[in-house]
Amino acid sequence: MSTLQAAAGVEKRHAVFFPFPAQGHVKPALQLAKLLHRCHGFQVTFVHTEHNRRRLLRSRGPGALAGVPGFRFAAVPDGLPESDADAAQDMSALLSTTEALAPHFRSLVSGLPSPVSCVVSDIEHILYAAKDMGLQCVTFWITSACSFMMYQLCQRLVDMGIVPLREAGQLRNGCMDSTVLDWVPGMPKGICLKDFPDFVLTADPDDAMLKVALRSMACHRTTPSAVIFHTFDEIDREAIATMSTFLPKIYAVGPLPLLLGQASGTGGVGDTLESNLSRENHACLEWLNGRRPNSVVYVSFGSIATLTSEQLVELAWGLANSKQDFLWVMRDDQVNNGGDPAAVLPPEFLEETKARRYVTRWCPQEAVLQHEATGAFLTHCGWNSVLESVCAGVPMLCWPFGADQYTNARYACSEWRVGLEIGGDVKRDEVEAAIREVMGEGEKGKEIRRMLNEWKEKAIVAAQPSGSSWVNLEKVVNEVLTVPP
Ligand code: UDX
Repeated sequence: MSTLQAAAGVEKRHAVFFPFPAQGHVKPALQLAKLLHRCHGFQVTFVHTEHNRRRLLRSRGPGALAGVPGFRFAAVPDGLPESDADAAQDMSALLSTTEALAPHFRSLVSGLPSPVSCVVSDIEHILYAAKDMGLQCVTFWITSACSFMMYQLCQRLVDMGIVPLREAGQLRNGCMDSTVLDWVPGMPKGICLKDFPDFVLTADPDDAMLKVALRSMACHRTTPSAVIFHTFDEIDREAIATMSTFLPKIYAVGPLPLLLGQASGTGGVGDTLESNLSRENHACLEWLNGRRPNSVVYVSFGSIATLTSEQLVELAWGLANSKQDFLWVMRDDQVNNGGDPAAVLPPEFLEETKARRYVTRWCPQEAVLQHEATGAFLTHCGWNSVLESVCAGVPMLCWPFGADQYTNARYACSEWRVGLEIGGDVKRDEVEAAIREVMGEGEKGKEIRRMLNEWKEKAIVAAQPSGSSWVNLEKVVNEVLTVPP
C-alpha cells in the first residue's frame, strides 16, 4: 500500500474537489478526496455549495467543516434561499443551480493560497471552467460504469429516432418494454429501454432532463483528461472495455469504503471528516444488537427518491405481512405530496408491527448493512447503496425510482445476481413474497447469497494494496492528477 508520501514534490499536489451537491455525490467524492490526502500526499480543497454548507452546520455543528491539516472546506453561493436549508434534494432544482456555480468557482480557485494541480468534479460547468483556466481536470463519476454507458448511449438512441418516444407513457405501460437493445456493444443480453435512465422515457423532444443529460455526457466525453469511476474492474468489466473506445482514460477505484478501510486500518468507520449531510441516528444500532443474525429487513430509498402515499402503504403492509423485523429509514420528505410520511401509515399497521419495527429519519447505513442482524436491504438502487450492500454481503430487494437506479437494478438482479427486482406499482403481496424469498430458504435467496459471497470477495480483493482499484488509484495519480494538462 502507498503510505503518506514525504517525497520531494508531493507538497505541490493540490486537488480541488467540487461534487454535484447531493448526498449520493458528496459522500463518495469526500471518500476519494480523503484517500488522495491520506495516501498520496495531496492537499485538498473540498468545495460545497452554500446550501449544503448551511445544512452541514445545522445538522452537525461547526466541527463538520473544520477540516484537518492539508484538508480544508470551502463553499460557493448557489442562489438557493436561506429558508431552504433543510429542503428536499430536488434534482431539477439542484441542476438549475450548477451553471451559476462556475464564476464563483473561478474566483475561489484564483484566490487559493497554493496553486492547484487538478480539479475533480462531475459538474460539467465546473469542468469547463477548470479547463478554460488551464487546469488539469478529471470527471469523478460516482455511479456504476454500466449506468454511465447507458447515459452515453442515449445520444445514439436519439440519433436513431428511438428517443423521444412516439407517445408519452408508452414505455411504462409496457408497450415498448420488449424493445431489446442488446445489439449495442457492451450491452448485456436482453437489455431493454426500460433499463435505461428514466429521462429517455420521454415523448417530448424538448424534455429538459433529456437535454441536460445529453449535454453533460458530451462534456464528460470531451473535456476531462480522465474519467474516474466509483466501481471496480471486475464488476463493470464489459462497460469499461466498451467505453475505453470513446472516453478519455478510465480508472475504476472502488469500493471506496473498503479502500479507506485499508488506508486507515479502521474499516473506514470513525472519521472526523464527515460525509453525511444529515445527522445519523446511531441508536438504531443498539436496536439491531437485540436482534437475531440475518433477521432484519433494512429499508431505505437514499436521499432523493420519493414514494406516493399508496406505495408507502403497500410497502408497509408488505413488511408487516412478511412477519420480519425491519429498520426503515423514512425521511421527512419521503412522500411525494410533501406530507408527513408517518401520518400516511395506517394505525393497524403501527399496532401490528410495534414490537418489530424501528423507524428513523437517517441512519449510519454502512454500519447497519455490516451488522450481523441485517438480512436483506430493500433499496432504490442508488449506486452507493448497491456497492455498500455488496461489500456487506447483504441481498437486495431492488425497487428503482429514477436516473441510473433502473440500470443498477437490472445489473444487480440479472447480471451480478445479487438481488430480486420489485418496483413500480408494487403491491403488498409482492413485497411480502420477495422478502420471504431472500430472507428464507428459497432457491433464489440461496443463489443470491452465494453470488454475493463471490462479489464481496472480489470487491475485497480489488481494494487490497495490490488489487485493481488500489493500482488504478496510483495510476490516475501518476498519469493524470499530478501531470499538467
Ligand atoms: C444519488 C442518486 O439518487 C442515485 O441514483 C445515484 O446512484 C447516486 O446519487 P441517493 O439516491 O442518495 O444518490 O442514493 P445512494 O447512491 O444510495 O446514496 C445514499 C448514501 O447515503 C449512501 O452512501 C448511504 O450509505 C447514505 N445513507 C443513506 C446514510 O448514510 N443513511 C441513511 O439513512 C440513508
